[in-house]
Amino acid sequence: MTRPRILLTRRWPEAAEARLAERYDLTVSPDNKPLGADALAAAMRDYDALCPSASDRLPRAVIETPGRRVRIIANYGVGYDHIDIDAAREAGVVVTNTPGVLTDATADIAVMLMLMTMRRALEGERELRAGAWRGWRPTHLLGHSLEGKLLGLVGFGRIARATAKRAEAFGMRIAYHSRHVAEDMPAEAYHASLAELAAKADVLSLHAPGGTETRHMIDAALLARMPAHAVLINTARGSLVDEPALAATLTDGGIAAAGLDVYAEEPKVHPALFDAPNIVLLPHLGSATVETRIAMGMKVADNLDRFFAGEAPPDRVA
Ligand code: DGY
Repeated sequence: MTRPRILLTRRWPEAAEARLAERYDLTVSPDNKPLGADALAAAMRDYDALCPSASDRLPRAVIETPGRRVRIIANYGVGYDHIDIDAAREAGVVVTNTPGVLTDATADIAVMLMLMTMRRALEGERELRAGAWRGWRPTHLLGHSLEGKLLGLVGFGRIARATAKRAEAFGMRIAYHSRHVAEDMPAEAYHASLAELAAKADVLSLHAPGGTETRHMIDAALLARMPAHAVLINTARGSLVDEPALAATLTDGGIAAAGLDVYAEEPKVHPALFDAPNIVLLPHLGSATVETRIAMGMKVADNLDRFFAGEAPPDRVA
């Protein structure tokens, strides 16, 4: 039997590529850059399975490529707002993702951004490197402790819960906004209104999926509800935040700081964010550990194996 042809749009950790190469006719896109629409359309015609990642855009026009051969898009990542899911469903293309395996790594980054912003780690590091450190003194670079602060989680899925668990270890109190009430949480932790949660959280951390429903859920009006000492953390999707509005709010002192790992137009970062004060900018490192990136690859492989065995892939989203 001929082996299914699989295209990885990027390099994966060696162990994950090796597992796929055992079973499949594997091609890894040679230049490790996002594929443009033409290259993705060509891939849709030439392969049985396409394995993109968050930086590849798969709109309807690509999914509906005439002469399409691809039957499954096995995404390397949990978020799939870069794939037109409705178009895939209508075209009968199966889409899978990689939930669960990047939960802890991403929650770690959310907490790291809280510590970096609230304890002013980046400012201190920059000062020291610039040779400007004048030694220990009682009022030097004072930040705020996490202990006792209210963490407002926007979305309450796996990553939000893992972030809550870590935050509780730092003594933070937890509140959340979500479409559903979590039965295992105290009733008072739930906030049906995002605006109400934003008005009282010391730290607001975003864990909602990308997409049209959540686009700019953090806009100028919402930012204006946040207390002046509050910190915004985003490890979810850049599209959740109106970035120029965030930059303006930081500049005006409307909130104290922001820690971002994701951006609306990655890898471009809105120039206003570079000019804003008190902001830590990371290059989408949420899932960037060796262990996690291997586990993500293995999860894609599990989905492909089941699909090509004629069974239901475990992480099907369309
Ligand atoms: C995800 O899995 O969605 C991460 O953001 C990396 O792509």
